[in-house]
Amino acid sequence: MNNVLSPPIVALLVLSVGLAGDLASGQVGADRLAQLAPTPPMGWNSWNKFACNVSEQMIREMTDAMVSSGMKAAGYKYVNIDDCWQVSRDAQGTIVADPTRFPSGIEALADYVHRKGLKLGVYTDAGRLTCEKRPGSLDHEVQDAKTYAAWGVDYVKIDWCHAEGLDPEVQYAKFRDALAQAGRPIIFSICNWGVKAPWQWGPRTGNLWRTTGDIKDNYDRMSVIGFSQNGLEKFAGLGHWNDPDMLEVGNGGMKRDEYLTHMSLWALLAAPLLAGNDLRSMDAETKEILTNPEVIAVDQDTKGLQGHRLWDEGPLEIWAKQLGDGGYAVGLFNRGESELKITLDSKMLGITGPARLRNLWEHQELGSLNNSYSAMVPKHGVVMLKVTTQ
Ligand code: GAL
Repeated sequence: MNNVLSPPIVALLVLSVGLAGDLASGQVGADRLAQLAPTPPMGWNSWNKFACNVSEQMIREMTDAMVSSGMKAAGYKYVNIDDCWQVSRDAQGTIVADPTRFPSGIEALADYVHRKGLKLGVYTDAGRLTCEKRPGSLDHEVQDAKTYAAWGVDYVKIDWCHAEGLDPEVQYAKFRDALAQAGRPIIFSICNWGVKAPWQWGPRTGNLWRTTGDIKDNYDRMSVIGFSQNGLEKFAGLGHWNDPDMLEVGNGGMKRDEYLTHMSLWALLAAPLLAGNDLRSMDAETKEILTNPEVIAVDQDTKGLQGHRLWDEGPLEIWAKQLGDGGYAVGLFNRGESELKITLDSKMLGITGPARLRNLWEHQELGSLNNSYSAMVPKHGVVMLKVTTQ
């Protein structure tokens, strides 16, 4: 039989493929993404502290620590294995976990994490290899998405190493469609470091997209990343979030005031909160910063707005985020090298009527905001406020 298709049949096929594409990338896709991450995802990821040194034993211990440390109760949900869990593909092309480091396999690990009431994430790369030269997912997008779904994976971070000549907008859309068809809700984290302005196409493609290169556990790098996010707020919203990279709180390279700046800024930015420290040996100071319910509530506010800079003068910056209850979260940041006074003027927020002030790190009511409020802010530090309009 002649297997050349007649023109009307070709036209029909093109039309139906086009419609399927519209469905995947259009409203259906947008609704699906919004349901998966109505607020910025919260969890833990292995990379910042452990890099390639991951194992099933460590991930189980971290899962236990997520519960016993109070992180789970504070809202952290995802336990994410980053690079280096995978070693090869089998004869069918299925991705294979390192048998020495993950002897029970990823499916058993997902079961363990689920039994603790948490969710499991894995990592791959849109190119030929991951950054640590493990097999990437190029040309295996559908197969890998199905494998993750079969294993019970809830979150996938997809990196951009060894992707020369590829277009991230095209490649990540392939993953979006593969995940949509995989039969399991899986959060989709795009990790291409801001290449080709992912905030412009990310909202219709994934749940979060990295806006910059990697964070480091020092004030200079953290602050350059965090304070450079101004202007990206219009691209974030329910289900789709700008990602200024994972948290370094507790990894030892910053002072307390600097980690308070890190956590406050990420909350004002409605950034995903992925802790990157060793939860098994977390000290009280780190725990207090990572689990402060008033600061987490700013990040997780259901209105889903990302904050922005209201004012700056030399090393001083005031950032604010409007909240669902009509109030504002405000950060008075001092990027300078000595303690300095910062004054919040109610006009900066457009408030004309009465308003109350609360200090979110000190858990302290500060009384009425009478036109302005001034505070001494330490070097590299922050005063984080909630302004409630009456
Ligand atoms: C980088 C990525 C990091 C981490 C690392 C793993 O590209 O930005 O967050 O995933 O790869 O190799």
